[in-house]
Amino acid sequence: MIPPNFFQRFKKKFIEPWEENVAAQEESGIPPSIAIVNQKGGVGKTTIAVNLAAAFAQHRKEVLLVDGDPQGSVKSWLQALTTQQPFHVLTISESALLEEIPGFKEKALHIIIDCPPALNKISQAALGGIRLVIVPVTPSPLDIWSSKGTVEMVKEAQRENPHLKARFLISRKIVNTKLGESIKDSLAQYKIPVFKTEITQRVSLAQSLLAGKNIFQFAPHGYSAFEFESLFQEISRLRWRHV
Ligand SMILES: Nc1ncnc2c1ncn2[C@@H]1O[C@H](COP(=O)(O)OP(=O)(O)O)[C@@H](O)[C@H]1O
Ligand SMILES: [Mg+2]
Repeated sequence: MIPPNFFQRFKKKFIEPWEENVAAQEESGIPPSIAIVNQKGGVGKTTIAVNLAAAFAQHRKEVLLVDGDPQGSVKSWLQALTTQQPFHVLTISESALLEEIPGFKEKALHIIIDCPPALNKISQAALGGIRLVIVPVTPSPLDIWSSKGTVEMVKEAQRENPHLKARFLISRKIVNTKLGESIKDSLAQYKIPVFKTEITQRVSLAQSLLAGKNIFQFAPHGYSAFEFESLFQEISRLRWRHV
């Protein structure tokens, strides 16, 4: 179970060290700390976290992927790994947090936190310190309505953490479909911008994780790799100096 002082320790050990090096942040043009959050399971958080970390690595960025979900699939993916990954991975535990983080700070410039499907302390702690929260949503009205709690938590975190930018990311979109008006309206009501990039539902994405690879290793010239490259580009175009 999560120890009582986890929140403070998480922020101090995990997030603050990354925020110290402001010059490196500005030079890189992309935020040092990103969390992928949605209280709902199955929306693609882990798929996005792994492949976004890989997209950063494609651009020679040093990344630490933090598995914030104790029951998470990052762990199973790690066990299935067949190919060495171009980023560091930390499966969260109190001891890893305390022992390994100082070493990672030297090695990694960016952290990407794959949050659990719950609005628990890990999600809260992540939102308290990071610069960008990505909320993946599948393009179904029911799923968007069920993101209400996540959105409320993000808005509350933005009141406490004025540096926090939030973006929706359409995930698991069916190929050759357009977003319906009702979905655009539902998203607009939350007043959180939506990334132009959309992550399409593709067999290769599921297969790549099962094969223990990231999408750039599994199908480097496919559409999915292109979508993650495009997401990386969009993130690097956000203006971090003026948050
Ligand atoms: N864009 C996608 N295309 C195909 N399969 C996907 C896609 N996104 C997620 N999946 C599959 O859906 C399931 C849930 O995805 P996952 O990333 O674990 O979601 P979460 O972390 O939000 O629970 C997994 O089996 C994964 O392989
Ligand atoms: Mg997950």
